Amino acid sequence: LCMIFSFCLFVFVLGVLCGFNISLPKRVEALNGSCVFIPCTFDIDQQYKDNLTDSAKRMWFKAGGSTAVFDSSSPNTGLLKGEIFGTATQNNCTTRIDNVDQSHRGSYYFRIEANGKLQYNYTGPTYSQVQIGVLGECHIAASIEGLDIKKNLLLSVSLRCSTKIFCPSRPPSLTWSSSLIESVTGQQYQSQTDIISDLNFTVSHRHHRVTFTCTATHQIQKQNTTKRSHLLSVQYAPKNTSVRINPAGLVLEGRSVTLSCSSDANPAVNYTWYRDTERPLNPVQTGPNLTINNTDPTHSGRYYCTAENKHGTQNSSVLLYVQIQTHFCLKKETHTGSEQVEGEGVNGNNLHF
Ligand SMILES: *[C@@H]1O[C@H](CO)[C@@H](O)[C@H](O)[C@H]1NC(C)=O
Ligand SMILES: *[C@@H]1O[C@H](CO)[C@@H](O)[C@H](O)[C@H]1NC(C)=O
Ligand SMILES: *[C@@H]1O[C@H](CO)[C@@H](O)[C@H](O)[C@H]1NC(C)=O
Ligand SMILES: *[C@@H]1O[C@H](CO)[C@@H](O)[C@H](O)[C@H]1NC(C)=O
Ligand SMILES: *[C@@H]1O[C@H](CO)[C@@H](O)[C@H](O)[C@H]1NC(C)=O
Ligand SMILES: *[C@@H]1O[C@H](CO)[C@@H](O)[C@H](O)[C@H]1NC(C)=O
Ligand SMILES: *[C@@H]1O[C@H](CO)[C@@H](O)[C@H](O)[C@H]1NC(C)=O
Ligand SMILES: *[C@@H]1O[C@H](CO)[C@@H](O)[C@H](O)[C@H]1NC(C)=O
Ligand SMILES: *[C@@H]1O[C@H](CO)[C@@H](O)[C@H](O)[C@H]1NC(C)=O
Ligand SMILES: *[C@@H]1O[C@H](CO)[C@@H](O)[C@H](O)[C@H]1NC(C)=O
Ligand SMILES: *[C@@H]1O[C@H](CO)[C@@H](O)[C@H](O)[C@H]1NC(C)=O
Ligand SMILES: *[C@@H]1O[C@H](CO)[C@@H](O)[C@H](O)[C@H]1NC(C)=O
Repeated sequence: LCMIFSFCLFVFVLGVLCGFNISLPKRVEALNGSCVFIPCTFDIDQQYKDNLTDSAKRMWFKAGGSTAVFDSSSPNTGLLKGEIFGTATQNNCTTRIDNVDQSHRGSYYFRIEANGKLQYNYTGPTYSQVQIGVLGECHIAASIEGLDIKKNLLLSVSLRCSTKIFCPSRPPSLTWSSSLIESVTGQQYQSQTDIISDLNFTVSHRHHRVTFTCTATHQIQKQNTTKRSHLLSVQYAPKNTSVRINPAGLVLEGRSVTLSCSSDANPAVNYTWYRDTERPLNPVQTGPNLTINNTDPTHSGRYYCTAENKHGTQNSSVLLYVQIQTHFCLKKETHTGSEQVEGEGVNGNNLHF
């Protein structure tokens, strides 16, 4: 154990004394046809400090290859074309590579080449190398927060859409659209690596079954768009509860009648029927339809339908009027005599005696 420790200490001390180091991301991703940034800084051993001038060549090699794929002294001649930023004396090796395609996949290491003895490969495994990945299509992430509907049903929802910035000089754009009538605009901001668009709003029943779509447009050789949609499901208390009588119009004694209750709610409601009083019908009637098969005048009265889900209750009522069906005689007096008219009638509002 002691030996292992001393060995590690030795390597560590050597590393510090050595003074060469490089700071690179392990992996960067590019969209096929787009550009990619490799943020990079390097250190050299103090003993070579005076040898490092701005004319030093900053170069990239592909792991296993023996010719430079990028050379700051002629940035457009190698396999990788682009731009290296800052200067060598600033220890800057940040590089943008343009028009990345599949052939650029692989691991790369940095080399500094100055006058005289300062010629150094920051190659693996001692120093980290950067791996360039090439994506065929752009990825877009969308997330939703705050869908936990509380009792007041006025909860803020946050739809977030994000996509990677492959190429800061040509950032992608994100737009929102929805099946609502009004247009929706997200709040856009960007981090170093991603562009984000937040759509935050107070949710209401109007947003139930509304689809929100985020579209990312990446400017590559041709513009490429990716869409991601989300169907919002909003829970809300019963609304628009109403009762219809079927068949509509007069209800004749002995006929059957159906009272149909409907309500707009999510989740779906339970229906309970009441009559005049606060007490439910006996036996308790549930379900959207209340059917009375053999009506008689005692069925006349006001019927309430109560629609209930876990978020609330709403009721609606209707007045049922069962008309007695009678045979009756009309005796009509005229000055020429009397005649009897027999007929079937009802004692509703439409006949007056
Ligand atoms: C090399 O750089 C990395 C990242 O900046 C740092 O964590 C590490 O300590 C450095 N190593 C040496 C020997 O300076
Ligand atoms: C550094 O890389 C160059 C180019 O591949 C190669 O010629 C040279 O031998 C390498 N030097 C070391 C010390 O690995
Ligand atoms: C390297 O250059 C780039 C581009 O000019 C700059 O954004 C970055 O901050 C520089 N890095 C360092 C460590 O100076
Ligand atoms: C490199 O720097 C050292 C001093 O640190 C100096 O003696 C040497 O001449 C320099 N070499 C070149 C080629 O400039
Ligand atoms: C990458 O882009 C080039 C040029 O636009 C195209 O020919 C090639 O098929 C693309 N490759 C993939 C994997 O999308
Ligand atoms: C554009 O995106 C589609 C998928 O959204 C992908 O199949 C295609 O390869 C992309 N084109 C380029 C040039 O990247
Ligand atoms: C939207 O809501 C999320 C989550 O509450 C929050 O992190 C974000 O800052 C909000 N964005 C805006 C633009 O208000
Ligand atoms: C109630 O429902 C009817 C028919 O479905 C609809 O026309 C009306 O707009 C709704 N009213 C409200 C306040 O939602
Ligand atoms: C309720 O009655 C209506 C007609 O009034 C019918 O269309 C519907 O299917 C019935 N619903 C149930 C659950 O019986
Ligand atoms: C009404 O009549 C139908 C058949 O005509 C029957 O299925 C139903 O159970 C009856 N309802 C009641 C409450 O008697
Ligand atoms: C609705 O009815 C079902 C079955 O009868 C019952 O399990 C549920 O608790 C009821 N929900 C409400 C909100 O009353
Ligand atoms: C119907 O609603 C009214 C007002 O919201 C309430 O006063 C009444 O008690 C309700 N009736 C039933 C049967 O639930």
